[in-house]
Amino acid sequence: MPDFIVTPWEVSGEVDYDLLIKEFGIEPIDEKLLFYFKEITNEIHPFLRRKVFFAHRDFQWIIEEYKKGNPFYLYTGRGPSGNVHLGHLLPWIFSKWLQEKFNVELWFQLTDDEKFLFNQSISLEETHKYAYDNALDVIALGFNPKKTYIFSDIDLAGTLYRNALKIAKKITFSTVKATFGLDNSSNIGQIFYTSIQTVPAMLKSMIEGKNVPCLIPLAVDQDPHFRLSRDVLPKLGFYKPALIECVFLPNLQQGGKMSASVEDTAIFTKDKPDTVKKKVNNAFTGGQANAKLQRELGGNPSVCSVYKYHFMLFTLDDNELRSIQSKCIGGELLCGECKKDLIQKINKFLNEHQKQREKAKDIFEDYLLKEKVDLKYLINEKNKETH
Ligand code: TRP
Repeated sequence: MPDFIVTPWEVSGEVDYDLLIKEFGIEPIDEKLLFYFKEITNEIHPFLRRKVFFAHRDFQWIIEEYKKGNPFYLYTGRGPSGNVHLGHLLPWIFSKWLQEKFNVELWFQLTDDEKFLFNQSISLEETHKYAYDNALDVIALGFNPKKTYIFSDIDLAGTLYRNALKIAKKITFSTVKATFGLDNSSNIGQIFYTSIQTVPAMLKSMIEGKNVPCLIPLAVDQDPHFRLSRDVLPKLGFYKPALIECVFLPNLQQGGKMSASVEDTAIFTKDKPDTVKKKVNNAFTGGQANAKLQRELGGNPSVCSVYKYHFMLFTLDDNELRSIQSKCIGGELLCGECKKDLIQKINKFLNEHQKQREKAKDIFEDYLLKEKVDLKYLINEKNKETH
């Protein structure tokens, strides 16, 4: 038995991503695929080069369709149960890059309903409030307002529900139990919920009255939802959504993902410079017990959480990263310095992010997708055929 757990509601332990590829039946992203992809984008995002995005379903197909003149749209989301931390930003930063490279739409779902149903200690009012608060972090990343639609499940309920019904009718309770590990003690909202998360993968096709390919950047824990989407949507006459999946940003201690519930080991987008400094200075490293030993023996970046932050988010320049790595191993770079460098980089990023987050309050409406009569009642030919 592996000693880690990855489900949409729980991630714990040291995740073995190679094992997960086998368990989930996802495809690794290999050099051949990246080469093919690069023909369009001209460059490979460091997240791809460094296998932060490490697996996919039908990614090649999405690119083939694009090359044929059949472009896709992006869909991703956030379960708003608290403040946003750096780990949440990985799929969003990548989505922003994809949006720019391909000049495509992003549909962004805020699942206030989900977090209420799955989290015993939070009220619906709170998750709804967090939905719009968290949306500011999304907007702060600079998505194109003309091509980005952000919505709360509760506020877009009419549109979502009328489409979710068609999906729900094609999924049995036993499938939901097997896919998510729910049981007879689960509340009945939890059983229905996955159908709501599938809707945005077909919504644009519904609205346009023709099939539009959908690409979903996501953290790998969300894969089970879209395994079901990929099963059901073809039965309703839609394409299967394609997926591109990333690893979790580890927490600042040893192993495990960054989790909002362990405050001191996660860095939140609202954290002040002093808080960041304190958290990084307390981080688990691959360093030796003291400076003398470190100079003699060198450190071990492969187990170091500080190095992982450089690697995944804050030192995206390959030469600079290589230099950190080799100086650490060679005993030239001490943990204190390396942490100082990371603290500076994180605070620079957060300073800009927090400014943009404030500005986002004024332009929020430009992104917000509201329940509209034309959207809700748009019934096209395909819609009529799906009973
Ligand atoms: N369920 C996700 C979460 O808890 C939120 C979400 C909704 C999502 N739709 C998505 C995430 C699509 C990735 C892709 O965070």
